[in-house]
Amino acid sequence: MADIIFNNVSKDYKMGEVSIRAANQVSFRVGSGELCIILGPSGAGKTTVLNLLGGMETATSGKILFAEQDITTMNDLELTDYRRYKIGFVFQFYNLIPNLTAVENVELAKQVCKSPLEPEEALRIVGLKDRIHNFPAQLSGGEQQRVAIARAVCKNPDLLLCDEPTGALDTETGKTILGVLSDISRKMGKTVIIVTHNSLLVPIANRLIEMKNGKLVRESVQESLADLEGIKW
Ligand SMILES: Nc1ncnc2c1ncn2[C@@H]1O[C@H](COP(=O)(O)OP(=O)(O)O)[C@@H](O)[C@H]1O
Ligand SMILES: [Mg+2]
Repeated sequence: MADIIFNNVSKDYKMGEVSIRAANQVSFRVGSGELCIILGPSGAGKTTVLNLLGGMETATSGKILFAEQDITTMNDLELTDYRRYKIGFVFQFYNLIPNLTAVENVELAKQVCKSPLEPEEALRIVGLKDRIHNFPAQLSGGEQQRVAIARAVCKNPDLLLCDEPTGALDTETGKTILGVLSDISRKMGKTVIIVTHNSLLVPIANRLIEMKNGKLVRESVQESLADLEGIKW
């Protein structure tokens, strides 16, 4: 079953006289519960595609469906609900609130959703149950990213969107983060999309979408998945 459908989606950014086509007639599908990687060099349009899917940007043309709902025809109120209840976001720089503890950061997310997990449970899922009362400054980069993932997971979203989630981390820590994200897909059944410029992440994905200059240049499905230990960085 296709969870996400992009049908000929383009996005133009207008800056004065100049217009940049950041996404150029992009079409793909992602099935429910899949872990999909969007790979490409800087400027390829990866973040644009992720932000279109997350309802943070609106498409210039084309259609985007999520769970049979057309998000390109939603009004502002519907888009706010969609972002709030359906989507969890994880960014490269964790965006935690420095004067709140791990569990307090996660609790904030819980307040804006319908059927959240308990913050302690979300932090247990990412392997941080012993660190819930630490402030971000008392945690390593990888641990801070795990808090950010717990914050997204606590919302109990249908779809987790991750923009360069390992971009600021060293190899080993990056692997731990990928392990957490792949568990969220495989064990919890969530659809997870990871944007990256790092091709070493590719072996863990069910589906790979490659982008260049705003275009989708290749799409492939991987039946047999590598486990994380086997990945060489
Ligand atoms: N808000 C914006 N305004 C103008 N141009 C933008 C904006 N966002 C992205 N772009 C441009 O669109 C292109 C694709 O950007 P982006 O989606 O961020 O690529 P990636 O995430 O693959 O590095 C780039 O040329 C970028 O400069
Ligand atoms: Mg980007």
